[in-house]
Amino acid sequence: MNTLAIGPHFERPAFPKLKDEHQVDVPDTEKVVRNFRKIYDWKAYSPEGLRIMESYWDTFVRSAFVPLLPAPMQRDRQRHRGINLGTFNGTYQKAWVRNGYAMYGVEIADVIDELHEYGLEGERASFFDLSSLADGEFDFGVLDRAICTKGFYSTYDRSHDPDPSANERPETVESLFESIFRIIRPGGALIGVLYNWYTGSVVSQLARHGALKLWPTYTGCLGFRVVKDDAGTSVPSIVEEPMTESACFRRFYPVEAGVAALFLPTNEVIVRGHETTCEFAPTSAHWSVLSK
Ligand SMILES: C[S@@+](CC[C@H](N)C(=O)[O-])C[C@H]1O[C@@H](n2cnc3c(N)ncnc32)[C@H](O)[C@@H]1O
Repeated sequence: MNTLAIGPHFERPAFPKLKDEHQVDVPDTEKVVRNFRKIYDWKAYSPEGLRIMESYWDTFVRSAFVPLLPAPMQRDRQRHRGINLGTFNGTYQKAWVRNGYAMYGVEIADVIDELHEYGLEGERASFFDLSSLADGEFDFGVLDRAICTKGFYSTYDRSHDPDPSANERPETVESLFESIFRIIRPGGALIGVLYNWYTGSVVSQLARHGALKLWPTYTGCLGFRVVKDDAGTSVPSIVEEPMTESACFRRFYPVEAGVAALFLPTNEVIVRGHETTCEFAPTSAHWSVLSK
């Protein structure tokens, strides 16, 4: 079994300075609410604004995401094909392409026409059901800020359900990673950033699928990489406690160079009868200190 690895804290690039005329309104439709998505919507910019934003997205992918890949995939870009899971209309997917990778995208929202218009390959699908894609089709997958909302847990996380068998919903955190790792080849990688409500059960489920490395990152998010193998990773025992929302604002505290204080779970959500309840005052007993 692999040992959990912890990388150093990393930052995202500074958001560019934009003028009002660099942005355009993209109205919500009945199918797609998009006014909160400007940071990953290429349609929300004028030509000059898009030039500035594309440079930002390129830098973001190059400086924050490519370094999460295994070293051979960082070096030998043309030989590795990835999938962006939750790609919206392709903004970050195209930045991966400009960084040298062949990329496919899947997205649940009805924006695939815009993905194609941007010159990209992909389809409308849920990452819970990737049945149109073959086993081991991709060298790597990117799951960047696409799960870990509160709604995601109240819907899919059954780990605290008093009677999980009473819930017949097939989509769970466990089935999500089964679905995703099926399409990654052995020795391939899933990388990404967990945000907002990432939990111990997500970390444990990721760990089942290979060698897991975690990186603390901006605004308390958690970067991760799993290199797919059958051995999985042993994760330090996870304290099963509910937490308050107010306790969720900080997940990682850098202690000193090379060492990070990591709290697992970070922001556990307890699901009882489909209601999300959070109540917790963290104490030092809930901390684990892990070496790099
Ligand atoms: C924060 S955005 C993605 C940002 C990402 N860095 C990118 O590539 O632009 C999350 C995306 O995941 C999509 N998403 C959420 N649940 C999904 C699912 N079950 N299957 C596919 N896409 C999903 C959302 O519609 C949204 O477009």
